[in-house]
Amino acid sequence: EIKILAISGSLRQNSSNKALMNAIIGLAKENVKFTIYGGLGDLPHFNQDIDAVEEPVPVRELRTHIKEADGVLICTPEYGNGVPGVLKNALDWLVSSGELYNKPTAVISASPSPMGGDKANASLLLTLKMLNADIVESGTLIIPHITSKLNKEGSITDPELKQELLSVLQTLEHACHQGETI
Ligand code: FNR
Repeated sequence: EIKILAISGSLRQNSSNKALMNAIIGLAKENVKFTIYGGLGDLPHFNQDIDAVEEPVPVRELRTHIKEADGVLICTPEYGNGVPGVLKNALDWLVSSGELYNKPTAVISASPSPMGGDKANASLLLTLKMLNADIVESGTLIIPHITSKLNKEGSITDPELKQELLSVLQTLEHACHQGETI
């Protein structure tokens, strides 16, 4: 069995990125167990002073979730040409503790715009590289025009996108398996 932690960079209830995340989970085989991390909004703002003396409970939970996962899937929007603050904040808490070290990680950005959140995606990769996450080859996906590829219920209506998501999932799974045999 493979355990994957799924993180949405959007806190919005009807988020297209959350819908994508759920679509990927729906494509997974039985041996892949997904956990959706819902704590982004509960994390305190990163503060080096706090990090030096204590581990707030939501931070401990985030770190534990990542530690216990074989891989991580991030689906994120782009805000103001960058990574959503809540997501960057979470990653900042992981710099000192290092749970993402060598962790197979796939990054998906989606946007209604023709650019697909490419700047948030690139910026996220920079941070993940600094954290030495194992960014899975071809596990990075930039999805433009997301609103025309999902229906009202959040299901994927675009067959090409479905195929791309399946491919990301398979690549991530493969990377997680490799980790198991080390
Ligand atoms: C946006 N949006 C946006 N889109 C984009 O491609 N690049 C950007 O820089 C921004 N900036 C931005 C700022 C703010 C404050 C908002 C509210 C929105 C649009 C964004 O991609 C869109 O709202 C998505 O639907 C958000 O993703 P979720 O919540 O559907 O997952």
